Amino acid sequence: MSIVKAVRGVRDLLPPETDLWNRIESTARNVFERYCFGEIRTPIFEETQLFARGVGEETDIVSKEMYTFTPAGDEGGGQSLTLRPENTAGVVRAYIEHRLANSGQLQKLYYIGPQFRRERPQRGRYRQFFQIGAEVIGPPGSGSESPVRDAEVLEMLASLLSELGIRGWTLLLNSVGSSSERPAYVARLREALTPVAGQLCANCQRRAVTNPLRVLDCKTPQDQPIIDGLPRIWDSLDPSSKAHFNAVRAALEACGVPYEHDHRLVRGLDYYTRTTFEFVQRNAAAGEGELGAQNALLGGGRYDGLSEAIGGPRAPGIGFAIGEDRLVLALAAQSRAEVRLADAYIAPLGEALNAPSLALARELRASGLRVELGDGSFRLKKSMETANKLARAVVILGEDELASAMLTVKSFATGEQTKVSRNLRELTAVLAGNLQS
Ligand code: HAM
Repeated sequence: MSIVKAVRGVRDLLPPETDLWNRIESTARNVFERYCFGEIRTPIFEETQLFARGVGEETDIVSKEMYTFTPAGDEGGGQSLTLRPENTAGVVRAYIEHRLANSGQLQKLYYIGPQFRRERPQRGRYRQFFQIGAEVIGPPGSGSESPVRDAEVLEMLASLLSELGIRGWTLLLNSVGSSSERPAYVARLREALTPVAGQLCANCQRRAVTNPLRVLDCKTPQDQPIIDGLPRIWDSLDPSSKAHFNAVRAALEACGVPYEHDHRLVRGLDYYTRTTFEFVQRNAAAGEGELGAQNALLGGGRYDGLSEAIGGPRAPGIGFAIGEDRLVLALAAQSRAEVRLADAYIAPLGEALNAPSLALARELRASGLRVELGDGSFRLKKSMETANKLARAVVILGEDELASAMLTVKSFATGEQTKVSRNLRELTAVLAGNLQS
């Protein structure tokens, strides 16, 4: 019979890799805590129209990548549901539904969880992937529109990446203006594309008609000189959007966060207004640039009209989502994940020693040590071999040790074997000392 495997584009995460995932998540939670963000957990599926109206009907995400289904015989009766392809729309829906605007305060919310997109799987691109994201949103007058918010979010990201030990990132920054400025730019772009579209790749020829902004994302090398010559969105921005962007830049410069103004960064979701950004890793030196084509570690921007687009009150906001799978790839490339050894392996040398061994393990674990308990072979040589693979030290518990209350401890790092009294304080001191060597 054939075996059942995980479906294409989704993955199991196993130890020791999950150690890295947990470390990343706890570092992110710590950083968010320092910036006074609180956690929000929204459902993994939502009504399809949330994404159609929020992210945009014409985007790649909504038009081709969503997992949409209609449960039969459900109370909703034929309601179309979708596994969330991103979480900003869901967070803003929750903000509206729970009337978070009523407090008049800025809401600072973060989330960690899986998202689903039916993209062509490749390194760094999966169909179930994890995002660590945050949104800052609030009613007019709460400060949610201020460029300082944008700079604070970007500065927080720079701190988080450095705390995680991510090297070689570049912050790409742009402004896409407001929804009233964009149509004029799209019209100019369309016009400029008409005479040159025939020389571009097949994808761009299609985009030139359906969604000209997406042409700016093209990575095909031959297209680049033509695309670089297209009109820039900056020249279509009104003075208030330009002033907003300049204020973001000034605040970043004041706190020493480096960035590049990337005129082509328009991003693939329709809700963006004004500031858009990505942190990419593109330096191929020293294990950086490990992400290949999928080099965007995270992306985000402002979405001042999203709440209204999904039926809520005016609530400007800014946020980001980090691709956690990509962070893991980048970090694992920097420091190949090492097997995490236990602090001690307790080897009982007979059936009767099982219970006292378990009692000893319980005490050592309670004092914070990572402890493996013997495999039940009860043979000294076999126990030593197993312990050597799993732990830094072995604690032998045989009849003699039990009778004398003196345990045999061997450190694999130094090869040294000592007798230690069965006393929690002495034992932990020896085992913890061994960790240093
Ligand atoms: P996004 O650019 O679509 O933005 O996704 C953010 C990040 O998620 C990407 O930079 C990438 O690291 C990761 N990502 C996206 N798709 C995949 C995939 N198939 N496999 C692995 N990683 C992936 C958003 O989702 C917006 N909601 C971000 C945002 C929040 N904007 C404002 N607030």
